[in-house]
Amino acid sequence: MSWTEAQYAQYRKDGYLMVRGLLSSADLQALHAALPDLLSGDDAADGLHREREKSGAVRQVYLAHRHSPPFQALVRRPEILEPVRALTGNDVYVWHSKINVKDAFEGGVWLWHQDYGYWMWDGVDPKLISCMVLLDRATLNNGCLTVVAGSHRWGRQEHYADTVTTSYKQWCVDVPTLKARVNEEDIRPVTGEPGDVLFFDCNLLHGSNHNMSPLPRKTFIVCYNDVANPPRPVEDPRPDWVVARNFEPVRGKATPPIRA
Ligand code: SIN
Ligand code: MN
Repeated sequence: MSWTEAQYAQYRKDGYLMVRGLLSSADLQALHAALPDLLSGDDAADGLHREREKSGAVRQVYLAHRHSPPFQALVRRPEILEPVRALTGNDVYVWHSKINVKDAFEGGVWLWHQDYGYWMWDGVDPKLISCMVLLDRATLNNGCLTVVAGSHRWGRQEHYADTVTTSYKQWCVDVPTLKARVNEEDIRPVTGEPGDVLFFDCNLLHGSNHNMSPLPRKTFIVCYNDVANPPRPVEDPRPDWVVARNFEPVRGKATPPIRA
């Protein structure tokens, strides 16, 4: 499923592109079958890394792409890798991956930010691309991702660390900058069905609301980095679960669809 020229042009203009129905129901079944263990396990026992809401509910699970076979296969899917390689113009490795969980009525907000707002401090250039795979329906009510079309062309904006809104330190863009830059008409909610995949630029401004709905909203985000852009040495480097030290190019084989 190669992208058309029009799709590449759309991505370059908006900083993101949604590809509908990239995964089959068999793919989704295999991914969902792996989720209970990934969400409920113990970091010390299974090598994953989990972040939690203030309530204790799991907010994020890192490293599924290393430990869980259906997620290992997912990050190697040619339908994902081919456009990512075409956009970077090079081979890529997995920078990190995370399952972002928003439980019904519980999952919390993500404030407006650019991923490169904080990745810059990891010592890389803005050549990273993220792919958000919808595992559940994403709706206006359950906190779908919201993006500002074209904001990747602003370049990186200054970010500050918010440590009060959620359990999690969030790097975000301050309100005066948002007021100066964001037009209401450019704010796009990215709703979709399980198996849809959103590709987005590391300078795209995005965030999402609290889950106000009975529908859980789980997504899997895999971020790829150009192999020619490994992190330069920085003071206080972040751990490998969030800034991978394995720079091996991801090879996408034309594998059959993943099975349970
Ligand atoms: C993120 O920006 O990484 C998370 C956004 C979300 O899960 O809605
Ligand atoms: Mn983000």
